[in-house]
Amino acid sequence: MNASEIQIDPSPALRGLACRECGQPYDHAPVHVCEMCFGPLEVVYDYDAIAKTLTRELIASRPQTMWRYAELLPLSGAPTVGAAVGGTPLLRADKLARALGVREVWVKTDGVCHPSLSFKDRVVSVALSKAKEFGFKTVGCASTGNLANSVAANAAAAGLRAYIFVPSTLERAKIVGTQVYGPRVVAIDGTYDDVNRLCAEIGDKYNWGFANVNLRPYYAEGSKSFAFEIAEALGWKTPDHIVTPMAGGSLICKIQKAWNELAKVGLLEEPPATRIHGAQAAGCAPIANAVLEGRETIKPVRQPNTVAHSLAIGNPADGFYAVRTMAETGGAAAAVLDENIVSSMQLLAETEGVFTETAGGVTVGATRELIRRGEIGKDDSVVICSTGQGLKTADPLVKKLPPPRVIAPKVADFDALERELG
Ligand SMILES: Cc1ncc(COP(=O)(O)O)c(C=O)c1O
Ligand SMILES: [Zn+2]
Repeated sequence: MNASEIQIDPSPALRGLACRECGQPYDHAPVHVCEMCFGPLEVVYDYDAIAKTLTRELIASRPQTMWRYAELLPLSGAPTVGAAVGGTPLLRADKLARALGVREVWVKTDGVCHPSLSFKDRVVSVALSKAKEFGFKTVGCASTGNLANSVAANAAAAGLRAYIFVPSTLERAKIVGTQVYGPRVVAIDGTYDDVNRLCAEIGDKYNWGFANVNLRPYYAEGSKSFAFEIAEALGWKTPDHIVTPMAGGSLICKIQKAWNELAKVGLLEEPPATRIHGAQAAGCAPIANAVLEGRETIKPVRQPNTVAHSLAIGNPADGFYAVRTMAETGGAAAAVLDENIVSSMQLLAETEGVFTETAGGVTVGATRELIRRGEIGKDDSVVICSTGQGLKTADPLVKKLPPPRVIAPKVADFDALERELG
């Protein structure tokens, strides 16, 4: 099947795709690059039509999943994959706020997102639902780990055949957490960028639906639900600041797009004035370094070297637009050293009882730095994104935390230990 043979019936508010650079319109199809100028394609909606029907009350009456915002997501009908995704807690984090020295901190906890414990379930449920609309029987992805877990889990549940491509250096838990669902997993001896290039070629050759390649315009839209949920949980307001992890740079752009859309359809109390900050690990910070050095262009990182494997994309597809999102919203960037990533994972766990993955250590660490630099003021409100589950990336903590003390099963031994520990 090729793109021109695909027939679908778009919902009334869905207006197809358009090139982000030259505006060239395209019909719905598994395509992601403009034929005229090679710009990225984006989904277009009729916001006036949505504004007429979508109200806060209607949203509140729906189940607590990402699909309560279905009008602003790009499916032509009901989701056929990932119907239970989203609806994760936004936690008020007062103890963390005191530790950081700011008034109001919230943590958005996608480490408990169903089914695969990261925000990638949001993008994958859209991409695979769309893949089914397009008639694909085989789906795939190029992944730094979480996307692999999510495509494998959601494809298994949806009865789709899945091919998952990852760099061979991934954490063991991310590999096992992919293999368990029974897809074909292929480890590539190379970086994520090598994996991504290979997937682009394989997708074309075999005509498969690759979540983050030919389905990318749809896939990326799923991230908006992360930001819709934050605004709704804050009483249809947005915070003064949000600190967002960046890998390919898509999530940060979609947070901006989501809040602008809520304003367009009349759901926000006031226009969004949030400063959207971007966080990366120092060992792979092509986007953060562009902002820190005052460049709009991205210098790819050839050999990423960080414990935050999920963010280790050296040549980010949406890097340029991520830089622009920070510029347009007055956001700053931070590049966090591995030792601070790990100590920040511990800080969040010890203050709020949230075990975030290394990517969450990056956002907590970046928040600390942005407060120190005065980018985030003491009286401000800030949402910190925890986009994945710490149990998947425990390796650096296993190295850091001492094994627990072993004693004989005797009260006298425990008494001695308790006296020693105090
Ligand atoms: C846990 C986690 N957070 C954030 C990101 C960044 O997403 P994006 O590629 O949209 O910048 C990823 C990407 O893999 C991720 O796995
Ligand atoms: Zn174009």
